[in-house]
Amino acid sequence: TQRTLVLLKPDTVRRGLVGEVIGRVERKAGWAITALELRTLDRETLERHYGEHVGKPFYEPLVAFMSSGPVVALVVEGERVIEGVRQLAGPTDPIAAAPGSVRGDFGTIVRENLIHASDSPESAERELKIFFPGIA
Ligand code: GTP
Ligand code: MG
Repeated sequence: TQRTLVLLKPDTVRRGLVGEVIGRVERKAGWAITALELRTLDRETLERHYGEHVGKPFYEPLVAFMSSGPVVALVVEGERVIEGVRQLAGPTDPIAAAPGSVRGDFGTIVRENLIHASDSPESAERELKIFFPGIA
């Protein structure tokens, strides 16, 4: 079994889509939400989380957006959950994302793409330590 870090980004919280997106995760067979927190992210946390993007042209606007309001951070555990939540989210660009995915159903803007999900087992363990340092 696997675990992954999911962030419901500030647009999801502002638009009242938290329940909609969490509901899709909850309804997947065998997955469980094992931690959940509403919090506003600071620049230091985002620099750790998005370290691979520091210096890219979209980095500063990304940090401004991600710190513009609270996010909901979740740990989700279950069968193939890392790949599974990425599929549920859809591709980074919401216009390229198929209807039926979170980004495809609700997004239009690359930056405001509603959800983050860890992209590999290594990313998941690294990101979980940033957001939930208390969990084993
Ligand atoms: P995350 O789950 O948020 O990490 O998204 P991702 O894994 O689908 O994309 P990636 O890690 O490559 O980029 C992180 C975030 O930066 C994306 O979710 C977008 O919000 C933003 N981003 C990535 N690429 C671009 C880009 O080319 N232009 C803009 N404006 N934003 C981008
Ligand atoms: Mg990413």
